[in-house]
Amino acid sequence: MTATILCVVGARPNFMKIAPIHAQLCRSEKLRPFLLHTGQHYDAAMKDTFFTQLGIPEPDVDLGVGPGSHAWQTGEIMQRFEPVLDEVAPEAVLVVGDVNSTIACGLVAAKKRIPLIHVEAGLRSRDRTMPEEINRVLTDQIADLLFTTERSAAANLTAEGIDPARIHFVGNVMIDALRAQLDRAVAPEVTLTRHGRTRPPEYGVVTLHRPANVDDPRILAALLEVLAEIGRRLPLIFPCHPRTAQKIEAFGLQDLVEAPALILLPPLGYLEMLGLVKEARLVLTDSGGLQEETTALGIPCITLRDNTERPITVTEGTNTLAGRDPERIHRCVDEVLTHGGKRGRVPEFWDGRAAERIVAILERHWG
Ligand code: UD1
Repeated sequence: MTATILCVVGARPNFMKIAPIHAQLCRSEKLRPFLLHTGQHYDAAMKDTFFTQLGIPEPDVDLGVGPGSHAWQTGEIMQRFEPVLDEVAPEAVLVVGDVNSTIACGLVAAKKRIPLIHVEAGLRSRDRTMPEEINRVLTDQIADLLFTTERSAAANLTAEGIDPARIHFVGNVMIDALRAQLDRAVAPEVTLTRHGRTRPPEYGVVTLHRPANVDDPRILAALLEVLAEIGRRLPLIFPCHPRTAQKIEAFGLQDLVEAPALILLPPLGYLEMLGLVKEARLVLTDSGGLQEETTALGIPCITLRDNTERPITVTEGTNTLAGRDPERIHRCVDEVLTHGGKRGRVPEFWDGRAAERIVAILERHWG
């Protein structure tokens, strides 16, 4: 008899984490995956492209929950997930990351006393204004098995009273996906040509979508102004998240993104983004995943936040926290353009084998 592990995905940053775990579960003789998509992200550009490029099969169930307030989205996912969980009756539920789908499905499983597995546990920004921080803290509290990407995470978890026996340092599944797909990355010139642009010889990549950066018109305008200034020295390619695109339009800031050296694109697929980042001079971002991907690729990353839940990207990797202060951002960019920026090294266990370690541990529990 094979044991069923119900794997949950919901939002874009979940897809590259679940892909290697799902593939490894398919290889297991003792376990089998059941894939559930909550529907938190639903656009072709935010979901389908990623499933296709990462080789994730169509989900066994799609709950079809779209956008809404945090409470609505979380509650709706919970209500729609419960009957599926009853019907599938898996041996365990596996959630990844820190999005609303993670905590929503985690809570349903925990209340039904179905063992909960959290992949990417223990990361802490210590910034409770971030919805993701709330999701991380709460998911870890109710998880039975916690898999961590960096050693600092275990200290965070034990400080919060979590039994060390439940915590396993396995490395970074997102970097498994990156290593598996690197050779298939789409060349930047191809991506830019597809969007009617030409590749600049040298460029930076920008992403921006955190509510703290894009939901306030003054903060967003100030950041876009800094980006336009940087763009005059180094053209910036800016694949724009739907949330950010909506805000730019709602706040009437289109002028700021029409600067000639800011190349605004729609959200890109995984392989297009990987190709762009791989050859970038630097990356400016508020994404959690990109801080790790740039560290794995050795590309300087300037993070437009005051904190990070992924401190190893700063202590060992290529990441520098610049916050939102224009002067500080310019100084960080100067450092990269004049001295090349941080070289960094690839952290322990970011070796492409994290999913193997996870599934080996799951087999010991449920095989
Ligand atoms: C979510 C995650 C965030 C993650 C981000 C990556 C939470 C709390 N936040 O934020 O951690 O970094 O995903 O993308 O879970 N939209 C579309 N098409 C889609 C999905 C969203 O147009 O496929 C629009 C919707 O109008 C929505 C807005 O984008 O209102 C925001 O989407 P939502 O899922 O609420 O949060 P994200 O900002 O994407």
